[in-house]
Amino acid sequence: MKKPLVIANWKMKVWGDQALALARQVVKSTAKYSSAEIVLCPSFTELAAVAGAIKGSNLKLGAQDCFWEETGAFTGEISPQTLLAYGASYVIIGHSERREHLAETGAMIHRKIKAALRASLVPVLCIGESFDERAQGQKEVVLIRELHEALNGLWLTEAQRLVVAYEPIWVIGSGQAVSGEEAEHTHQVIRQTLFDLLPTSVVDEQVRIIYGGSVDPENVAQFTIQPTVAGVLVGGASLDATVFGALVAAAAKV
Ligand code: PGA
Repeated sequence: MKKPLVIANWKMKVWGDQALALARQVVKSTAKYSSAEIVLCPSFTELAAVAGAIKGSNLKLGAQDCFWEETGAFTGEISPQTLLAYGASYVIIGHSERREHLAETGAMIHRKIKAALRASLVPVLCIGESFDERAQGQKEVVLIRELHEALNGLWLTEAQRLVVAYEPIWVIGSGQAVSGEEAEHTHQVIRQTLFDLLPTSVVDEQVRIIYGGSVDPENVAQFTIQPTVAGVLVGGASLDATVFGALVAAAAKV
């Protein structure tokens, strides 16, 4: 039985007492499901509080972005080493919201992935097509391009791990996920592309491909049941501990 990876992306939606309370409630609502690997990704400012709240539980900590340098004159940026010091083990990189609003490019994402790996963090590389790109039959072209931009020339040591999150942009926050079959088909395209970029054994043993975009307790199993879907990246449904607990329960049952 596989151990699904369930990553909660809180985005810029909870902070302060609310974030602390949510983390504490999630510890309780997911306590029974050790057969899932669960990662909470709050805002940078909440990392320390959430790290404290999940201490001693099965939950892991992640961040929503990082910079590509270790230290220096980079006002407003956060280094992977800082994230590590605050207890993070995962970091989301290249989310479509950052590509869109912060003009993050493939070259920037590539540098961030490398920096995260150097710091022993697991990068969660987000890729996905827009509605228009899909309508124009460009979905696979976009995914292949984003994978090449992010991973070209990358070398993973035996200890390093990578997660690729397929998130169709037009589905994020829409309440309307793609079907499990479509996710599986797309994941196979991603996997084939990864074989062009990384050694076969690395793709097989060190890279996981997960699905994101309107995942909820009702539809999560249709994704995690698929052979190449190693888990899910969850936005909206991760903001309520009861809903998120139900989602993890359904994912862990598969
Ligand atoms: P959603 O967000 O689950 O609210 O669609 C997913 C994401 O953007 O990571």
